[in-house]
Amino acid sequence: MRYNPFNPQNPPRGDYFVGRIDELRQFEQYLLQTIHGSPMNMSITGNRGMGKTSLLAKMEEIAKKEKCLVFRMSNYESLVNNISELTNYLILGLKNEFYADSSVSKKIMQLGEWATTLKPVVSYKEASLSFEEKRLVAQTILRNNFLGFWKKIEEEYPAIVILIDEAESLERIEGALSFLREVFQRLSHEAKYVIVLSGKLNFPERMSESFSPLNRFFPASPLTAFTEEETFSYIEKTLKSVNVVTDNDVKKKVFEKSEGHPYVLVKICSIIFNELEDTENKITAKHLEKARIRLMVDLEKEFFKPMFHPVSPKAKEITFQLLKIGKRKFVFTEAVKATGMERQKIAPYIQELVRKGCLNKPERATYEFFHHLFVDFLKKQASEI
Ligand SMILES: Nc1ncnc2c1ncn2[C@@H]1O[C@H](COP(=O)(O)OP(=O)(O)O)[C@@H](O)[C@H]1O
Ligand SMILES: [Mg+2]
Repeated sequence: MRYNPFNPQNPPRGDYFVGRIDELRQFEQYLLQTIHGSPMNMSITGNRGMGKTSLLAKMEEIAKKEKCLVFRMSNYESLVNNISELTNYLILGLKNEFYADSSVSKKIMQLGEWATTLKPVVSYKEASLSFEEKRLVAQTILRNNFLGFWKKIEEEYPAIVILIDEAESLERIEGALSFLREVFQRLSHEAKYVIVLSGKLNFPERMSESFSPLNRFFPASPLTAFTEEETFSYIEKTLKSVNVVTDNDVKKKVFEKSEGHPYVLVKICSIIFNELEDTENKITAKHLEKARIRLMVDLEKEFFKPMFHPVSPKAKEITFQLLKIGKRKFVFTEAVKATGMERQKIAPYIQELVRKGCLNKPERATYEFFHHLFVDFLKKQASEI
């Protein structure tokens, strides 16, 4: 056994991180704006495995270096089902971060009193209120709490950064995102909060909403796959940390196979690395070859199946028919022809496939299977039916 530096389950160690230059520059700019009293927010969109969580982790690192108070929120889906739960969760989360920050822990004793006055619970007869009323009450409570929180800590921190991962689960709660927008927009003159949403978000993709208030308040950066250069740099840096080398041919093959898709890339590297004998310190074409079967088995099990499984039966059927087009990228009329369905009938299923990440929509009326290995997986599934 030897330590494998490639870990597809977790964000990369700081020194293995590559790319995302534009997104990080924008984040740093917005952080600076916020610190100077003109808060700005953003959102990160991207399919599964594209590096959203990793980018948020990097933002967290940057914001902490700037001495900001940071709350990175994830795995909250089952805990947050409505706006008042969201309110509570955010306030409690920030308080926890504040308590956990050792640089202020001594001062908490002096501040103890105000902390207990932050009542996160929405303490009124909720049942008697309409949706709109609840929303307004929650909004006022959240705003007052956030304002109060900021006023207490503004001497200690230049800004507060809230990083919300898997934000598509908030998108599913009616009004939750516009609620956040309203709260933080009203606070922007009095408190220094930066909000970053990250997830497989739908709102930035709907054309009708490209100038919507949500889009303007959380301008979206869509994540794309790594370039060849970034892929090479990732492989080199990571191997170097364990004194293993490889050649350009191998790196090129890994890039072609992975297409620079972060999760697929890390997974491939991890499997190839496992093919190294304890005494070896160079990865060659031989290791690549040995890793092939395992790679498809693992990707199927861990990535493609869980992604395709939740697709509706009819959309699955259509997916298999789309394979008949014989191209990874196709236009809508080709889909109509391949399925023999009417335009209006097939459109919602194509949309479902885009929403679930099986298809990308690189331009208007043009679709593309998200990865060439996913096409191989589908072909295999189709032949098994
Ligand atoms: N910028 C990056 N540099 C290096 N590795 C990355 C980067 N972004 C993602 N990865 C790796 O890719 C994999 C998937 O990334 P993750 O952030 O979990 O994607 P997502 O949250 O979009 O599903 C992880 O193993 C992570 O280590
Ligand atoms: Mg993630």
